[in-house]
Amino acid sequence: MLDELKSIEKDGLATLEKVASEADLQAWRTKHLGRNSAVMQAFKNLGALGKDERPAAGQAANQVKVALEGALAKRETALKAGRVAQSLETEQVDVTLPGRRVPLGRLHPVTQTMREIRRIFAEMGFQVYRSRDVETDVYNFQLLNFPPNHPAREMQDSFYVEGGSDENPLLLRTHTSPGQIHAMREAVARDPDNPSPVRIILPGMCYRYEQITARSEIQFTQVEGLAVGKRITFGDLKGTLSDFARRFFNPDVRTRFRASHFPFTEPSAEMDVECFVCGGEGCPVCKQTGWLEILGSGMVHPNVLRNGGYDPEVYSGFAFGMGPERLTMLRYRIEDIRYFWRNDLRFLEQF
Ligand code: DAH
Repeated sequence: MLDELKSIEKDGLATLEKVASEADLQAWRTKHLGRNSAVMQAFKNLGALGKDERPAAGQAANQVKVALEGALAKRETALKAGRVAQSLETEQVDVTLPGRRVPLGRLHPVTQTMREIRRIFAEMGFQVYRSRDVETDVYNFQLLNFPPNHPAREMQDSFYVEGGSDENPLLLRTHTSPGQIHAMREAVARDPDNPSPVRIILPGMCYRYEQITARSEIQFTQVEGLAVGKRITFGDLKGTLSDFARRFFNPDVRTRFRASHFPFTEPSAEMDVECFVCGGEGCPVCKQTGWLEILGSGMVHPNVLRNGGYDPEVYSGFAFGMGPERLTMLRYRIEDIRYFWRNDLRFLEQF
């Protein structure tokens, strides 16, 4: 029996040496210390021994059990320490590595242009006036001096929406100009006898039911401007808009005004800036003319002043309208307006 116990211990300790994982350790415990293990069997067999042999054998069996348990505990600790050391090795953090960059969003190029236009006009004392995207035919056309059958009305095919009447249908505004009437009427309502002067820009989205092409979209932004007061002249218009062009493009840019026509202004003019690509020599961007058209403008038509509540005998004003998409396209030489709504990051990330 004593010899047998010796070999049980030796065998147990030897196999324990080879145990390398948690699972192996559990298996070893069952095999060498479990209910059917050789040591436990030895305890059961004690009863079969003679009285004089029994104490020594019992003691020896106990020693073997204690030795195996001790060795198991040691092995367990060693295994755990090994795992910790290994994870420290493989999961090391190198605090000297550069951090990972978090990708940042950015403003849409047209939003950037809008903000710049606002900033420039704010410096010149223009406030921002917001007005609705859904308009009535009366505000979008009639009060702006478009007679019912005026050909210019056909120019701007509109998105009509439900809710209007036959004489005054509702539509998505085709330009920001109807805001002029809202703004003037608001100023007059505040002080009918002595309405305050108006000096505002009106930025916003406009909508036209048109064929989408490289040059025209059905949805685009405009920035309208309006100044109304006593003794406002065409010189004020030219000065303000030329100054805007110098601040927006470059301090030396030349401008020119060409006679034009809009129902809501008289006289009307379009402003060109000297082509900043070729400096006026002529190139594909300016179609060899040396000039780029950037906005429409004019002196507010007496009918429009009257519709806004201002007496055209006492008050005068100028107005203008420009397209931030067009300005952005000119500035960055973008050749297709459809990029702005395409949401292609390869395009947007360039700005
Ligand atoms: N409303 C015009 C358009 O959408 C732009 C415009 C031209 C606005 C001349 C004005 C202006 O205020 O004076 O094409």
